Amino acid sequence: MSQFWYSDATATRLAEEAVREAGDGGRIACLSAPSVYRKLKQGTVAGSERVTATVFEYDRRFAVHGDDFVFYDYNEPLALGAGVAPRSFDIVLADPPYLSGACLRAVAKTINYLSKAKVLLCTGATMEDLAKELLGVERCAFTPTHDRNVSNEFCCYVNYPSRLLSC
Ligand SMILES: C[S@@+](CC[C@H](N)C(=O)[O-])C[C@H]1O[C@@H](n2cnc3c(N)ncnc32)[C@H](O)[C@@H]1O
Repeated sequence: MSQFWYSDATATRLAEEAVREAGDGGRIACLSAPSVYRKLKQGTVAGSERVTATVFEYDRRFAVHGDDFVFYDYNEPLALGAGVAPRSFDIVLADPPYLSGACLRAVAKTINYLSKAKVLLCTGATMEDLAKELLGVERCAFTPTHDRNVSNEFCCYVNYPSRLLSC
């Protein structure tokens, strides 16, 4: 399932970013990024009790999170269930499962459906031009890390003025 997980430090940093950018009472969508959802639920990130988070995932093991779980297959980008309204998330954080243009194009459809405005995308450096074209994002100085070696250069991208841009 193309599963490789963030280091704890990266999951924490991304969760902190999502909380800050969602704001009090904000809604966060974790799209194929379950480590960030888990971090938000651990109660260790300041302010996480003031946001709500939804995990959109293909791996049904995450259905243990009950109503917070939405089954998501990027091959059917808008098949999200009747309960998921358009533009209902203050920030969408996404980590597409594959480094391909077809996958990013499909994931971008879901992001554009879900997001009110803010997008935080984590994917390979090779996707930079297409990510910019599809989502209007720019590459951050902050570099996400994983709990094991990932051979491709990996980056974060945002479409809003973020602290991640500079560090
Ligand atoms: C590259 S990993 C990203 C995980 C992220 N680094 C984290 O730590 O949370 C890709 C994610 O996409 C999910 N995935 C696999 N196949 C998928 C599909 N067909 N549609 C949507 N998501 C999928 C995996 O279960 C995994 O959570």
